[in-house]
Order: sequence, then C-alpha cells, then structure tokens
Amino acid sequence: MDIAWGTDNNLYDDQFYNREEEIGFLKSILNTSQFGSTPTILLTGIRGVGKTALLKKLQREFIDDYLVIYADFSQSYAYQTDKLSPNAIMEFLYDRIIKSAHEQGLKTLGKKLEKYFKTNDFHIKEILNFQGISIPIPKSEENYHKLADFVMDLPQMIYDEYSEEIKGVFIFIDEFQTIKDLDNELNGFLWYFRSKVQEQKNVAYMFSGSMSLTDSLIQDIAGKKGAFGGRMLTYELKPFSKEITKNYLDEKAANLKFSDDAFERFYTCTKGIPTYINLFAKLLPQNHLINEEELKEEFKKDLPFLAIHFINIWSKLTFKEQKIIISLLDKPLKRVEIARELNVTSGSLSNSLNSLQNKALIQLNDSKYEIIDYIFRAWLKNEYASKGVYPFRSI
Ligand SMILES: Nc1ncnc2c1ncn2[C@@H]1O[C@H](COP(=O)(O)OP(=O)(O)OP(=O)(O)O)[C@@H](O)[C@H]1O
Ligand SMILES: [Mg+2]
Repeated sequence: MDIAWGTDNNLYDDQFYNREEEIGFLKSILNTSQFGSTPTILLTGIRGVGKTALLKKLQREFIDDYLVIYADFSQSYAYQTDKLSPNAIMEFLYDRIIKSAHEQGLKTLGKKLEKYFKTNDFHIKEILNFQGISIPIPKSEENYHKLADFVMDLPQMIYDEYSEEIKGVFIFIDEFQTIKDLDNELNGFLWYFRSKVQEQKNVAYMFSGSMSLTDSLIQDIAGKKGAFGGRMLTYELKPFSKEITKNYLDEKAANLKFSDDAFERFYTCTKGIPTYINLFAKLLPQNHLINEEELKEEFKKDLPFLAIHFINIWSKLTFKEQKIIISLLDKPLKRVEIARELNVTSGSLSNSLNSLQNKALIQLNDSKYEIIDYIFRAWLKNEYASKGVYPFRSI
C-alpha cells in the first residue's frame, strides 16, 4: 500500500495524491512574487484535511527557485513550555530563517548579518556555529522592537543579497493559531506583523493552522476589520471528493476491495478527509471483498484509532468541558441551553466555551455551539453505547 500513515504529513511525492488544482492556483499566486508584488495567504481547512502536507509539498516544489521557510509555531520551545511571547516568536522565526537559508545553500549570510549587527549597534548574545559558519544570535531581551524589526526585515535582506539566485522568499507559518497564547499581546503583535509583512516587496507569507473555520482569529487576521484589512487572500482546502477518494484508493490501495455500498459507507465515515481515509484504509482487511455490514463493524472497532488525536485532547479537558461536549453530542445548542443541561449559569460557561473553541473542538454556528469533528463525536457516542458510560476519567 502506497498510503501514508494518517499522522505523517511530510509525504513522499508518490504518497501525496492529487491537489493539482489547489497547487496550480497557489503556485500561480505565489509566483507573482518574482515581479515584486507579494501575496499574503491564509490557508484554512478542517483538521486533517491536508494543510500541512500541502505546505510541505509546495515547499518542495518551490525550493529550486525560491528561499522557502517553513515554520511550525507549535514546534517552538516557548510554545511547548507554555511561555509563548512576541520575543520568543521572533527568536524562533529567526532560527527558522537562518537554518532554511543554510539548508538551501545561501551560505555567506554570516557576513551580511555581521555587517547589519555592526551598523545597527546590535548586541550579540552568542555566536552559533552552524556547519562551520558563524551565525550571531541577537541579544534581544532588553529590546524586543529592535529584534522584531531585524527578524522581520531579514527575509527581504536575504533576497536583496541573493536576487541572482532566488526569485523571492516564501514564509509558510503553520499552526499559526498558537499565537492566541499571546493573550492581551495578541492584537498588538498582529498589527505589527501586518505592517512588516506588507513592507516587503519580495517576501510572500502564507499562514495556516488547525482552527475552526469560524474561529475569531480568522476574522482578526483576514476579516475586513482585521489586522490585514481584507488584503489577505483566504483559501479553503476542501476534503477529497467522492470521486477523488475512489481514484485514490484504486491507485494507492489496490488491495482494498469494496462492494459499491461499502465504498459509499467508507466515504460517509471518512467524509473525504485524508487523515481518516488513510488511517481507516490502513486498518481495513485486505484482499477480500468488504461489504457494507462489515465496513460498519470495522468502523466501530477502529474508532479509537481514528479518534486518537481527540482522545488525547479529551483526556486533558476539565470535567466541565467534557460535560459541555457531551451535551452537544446529539445536536447543536445555544449557550443558555447548555447551561440548562449542566445546571449552571450561562455566565459561568465562558472560559470553558472559549477553551473548547481554541482547541478547535467546538464552533459557534448561527448562535449555536456544535462539535466540529464527526469522528470525535462518533467515538464518544460509541463509547457510551458499548460501555454505558462516558469515558470521563482515563486510567
Ligand atoms: N494530498 C494527500 N494525499 C494523500 N494523503 C494526504 C494528502 N494530504 C494529507 N494526507 C494525509 O492526511 C493526513 C493529515 O494531513 P495534514 O497533517 O496535512 O492535515 P492538516 O490539515 O495540516 O491537519 P491539522 O489541522 O490537524 O494540522 C496526513 O498525515 C496524510 O496522511
Ligand atoms: Mg497541520
């Protein structure tokens, strides 16, 4: 089987299926960068739809012509240790820029930087030795703005120095929603970031992350009144269509054989979301004709594997958050209705509702809260159906 694990997003080219239209579109837009007008793109899409895999694919496609920097904010030490700050973001971005530039062979960067440090009277914290090349690490604690300006200007400086070798610089920022951790510094950070992003003639930015499509962060960034003032292009990555799913399985998982009904059911169960398609396809029995009944049984059996990501998140929720989720299993509810179910005041739900939205577990749609992911919901329902109790506590 030529199918990637549902958790692997750095796919080999023969594992990466289709997305031709999407790639063509994004490529043509990003390619305008070589003429000095760079787009800013927000790539949205539900969890597991393939945003990260697409960013990495685009990175590979562009790497010969552009300097491409992929920065996954959730991988920063500061975020992992719950200490995200504007300063930490800049240091992380700096690190990603320098490393990418070196990986892509732009190796005389050290000198240019040193010159910049001197002329800007920048204190140097230490010199990092990266594959034999000295890279200064700016000392930033006492002057965030100096560091931020420096890091944000750096990609354009790199372009100016290497305009013979590269057509421009692309910065792909994944898991951008992590910046919500900045709390009351968030707004200022976004506006500053925007002003810098728009100053740069040859640097294009693409943001993405695991957020609900109704997430307020999307409005804060890309909305008319958001930091980018409607100048950001929002592009939604959609799940695979039924036909693409069919062709995908025929091509990459020829050992799976479905009756027509069973395939229909497979599509209903996975909703065309690549992460579920891949996980489920890997778990199904091969080389024998699967009928609809068997598929249903397999689906129930495999739910804990399909929902693994959510089970992790679920086990860390508070009891109150878990109860809110349970109240939404059957249908979307208004806030007052949830309060009634839980026998608490509506006001006391604010923190929990926010936290669940930030984790992209629920979203507000038409003034009702709903569970976003179908597999997550199916897993909880199935737990109850088979055990008679919801898994509030893990062992
Ligand atoms: N074009 C593709 N062809 C085949 N499989 C894919 C493709 N895109 C994604 N996948 C599969 O789907 C999984 C999820 O993709 P990915 O991690 O890119 O989703 P995501 O949208 O970034 O999710 P999240 O919101 O959780 O970050 C991958 O691990 C891979 O197995
Ligand atoms: Mg992702």
